[in-house]
Amino acid sequence: MTRVLGSAEADLDLAADLLREGRLVAVPTETVYGLAAPALDAGAVAKIFEAKERPLFDPLILHLPASWMGSLWSRGIADGEPLGEEGRQRVERLAGAFWPGPLTMVLPKTQRVPDLVTSGLPSVAVRVPRHPVTQRLLERLGFPLAAPSANRFGRISPTRAADVLEELEGRIAAVIDGGPCEIGLESTIVRVTASSIELLRPGSISANELERAGGAPVVEASANDERTPQSPGRLESHYAPRTPLLLVDDGSSMRAGIGEGVALLFFSDASRDEVLSNLDPQYAPTAGRVRVLSPAGDPAEAGRNLFRMLRELDGSGAARIIAEPPPLATGISHAIRDRLRRAASSKRTV
Ligand code: TXA
Ligand code: MG
Repeated sequence: MTRVLGSAEADLDLAADLLREGRLVAVPTETVYGLAAPALDAGAVAKIFEAKERPLFDPLILHLPASWMGSLWSRGIADGEPLGEEGRQRVERLAGAFWPGPLTMVLPKTQRVPDLVTSGLPSVAVRVPRHPVTQRLLERLGFPLAAPSANRFGRISPTRAADVLEELEGRIAAVIDGGPCEIGLESTIVRVTASSIELLRPGSISANELERAGGAPVVEASANDERTPQSPGRLESHYAPRTPLLLVDDGSSMRAGIGEGVALLFFSDASRDEVLSNLDPQYAPTAGRVRVLSPAGDPAEAGRNLFRMLRELDGSGAARIIAEPPPLATGISHAIRDRLRRAASSKRTV
């Protein structure tokens, strides 16, 4: 049985006890729900891979208490030495700008971090999440939690406690219900070096914001870099519904794809109206099979709704889902396009 906990003191005490015993607890973050275990306990971390059916080549992110921000290098997790003075300062500037928050930094690791956590890589991914409930839990524990998104491997990330149960009920000790996630898309992941900021996974923080705060150019990590794991965020197929998903580039290709049993995911009311008003009513899907990411076309709202709506359409019994990405832009729109592209089983664009 998986217990559903709230944010009362007694609930967090129980969650902390479970984690100290090496059991798995799903926790809310501002991005998506994470499946947490004590990061320095390899036995507990192994259970994460088991519950998610996640391949061992896919490294985990460490979630740190906010009180560690000023003392990152002395906590025995990240090794600042190989970065040099300039690299360390860049990390500190990025941390100052975006922590607590949806930025993950890949840094040289220390011996204390189990190889299982990093899939044998010499680096470790760390972030300070800003969800207040999970911060209270981390401060109580005083040690980092390893936490991937709380979905089965390859599936849609959970943005509500109910989604976590749908994915992992019976496989984990508890989930803390902290409400729907504020951002809804996984964190931006960067690897910081002395001279650059490499973008490993786009998220809600844009390249421009990273450049401004970090004082170095943002470069796309190359796909065949051996330091870059072949991991979810980077696998071609990920965040996938069970229903085949077709990604189109505009209203007319959407219209062309519409037929019996389809479900439609639009970016805005304007694009929905454009497509549906020109459609033979006999082909119009029922309301249960139509979703609009953001009526007014706001990328932040669309990001918040993306995984929930994909999940709803996946459960609608449709034979396939046709999705339209947000217009090309930076930041959140870029991250939404990235997730949709990986969720698609066949692609026309993006
Ligand atoms: O927003 C998030 O980041 C969420 C919440 C729960 O914090 N977590 C999340 O974790 O998305 P996950 O496991 O689904 O994605 C972690 C990804 C890995 O797949 C990999 O791409 C990258 O982080 N990663 C972790 N450690 C790394 C390392 N040492 N080097 C390069 N990439 C790493
Ligand atoms: Mg994931």
